[in-house]
Amino acid sequence: MSDFPDNVHVYANPDKLAAALADRFVNCAQTAITERGTFHVALAGGTTPKAAYALLAQEPRRTAVNWNDVFVFFGDERCVPPTDEASNYRMAMDTFLHAVNIPGHNVHRMRGEDEPAAAARAYSQLLREDLGEPPRFDLIMLGMGPDGHTASLFPGTDPLTDDAQLVRAPYVETAAMSRLTITPRVINAARDVAIAAEGQAKAAILAAVLRGVHDPTTYPIQIVAPLEGRLDWLVDAAAASALT
Ligand code: 6PG
Repeated sequence: MSDFPDNVHVYANPDKLAAALADRFVNCAQTAITERGTFHVALAGGTTPKAAYALLAQEPRRTAVNWNDVFVFFGDERCVPPTDEASNYRMAMDTFLHAVNIPGHNVHRMRGEDEPAAAARAYSQLLREDLGEPPRFDLIMLGMGPDGHTASLFPGTDPLTDDAQLVRAPYVETAAMSRLTITPRVINAARDVAIAAEGQAKAAILAAVLRGVHDPTTYPIQIVAPLEGRLDWLVDAAAASALT
């Protein structure tokens, strides 16, 4: 009998977590392309997914996906230029998008260099045009901050607003910057959502989020509950250490 809910998958170490996350991407891509001819994915930012992204740039995974049929979007972005070290787009480009045969026009970055509200409106419109209303991603990859945020839905930024824009531009005090983020309505319309968390620093928040009170205003990641989709948590043993 596992100590964990069925959708919480615990891996012995960060390398195994990265491989599992990369395989989740490949499997979702292959299924979506087989069933619908395309794979629409929203990438997570931060540091946790970097190792998984790097595996996508290498064999055997690099050629396991028909990148012509892959359409990459972002779950959130820092309001910085795409060349900035803090840019999630730059991180994804540097870790794998530069190395796979994905057509440039298949990658849709959030324009962090633009006025935030305008950038949010523009990306909302792009999502509507490309994915419908609400936009239904095949896979949304998310991380989790130590304060229970996900994407850029942070506590104290009215994170649960089901914004008709689909994308919001909150000013995040704790990050001292504006961010762009998809809203809960977009996240919960997805076919598959994969949340990845690793390291001892995430142990307390993971236990609070999964085992504590349900309070999405305090822990915005608790709002993630796909309406007709699947949610899986992919964590390493260190992050899960407070769950048992
Ligand atoms: C970002 C992410 C953010 C991230 C968490 C976890 O832009 O930083 O979208 O939600 O996933 O903060 O970050 P780490 O993976 O670096 O711990």
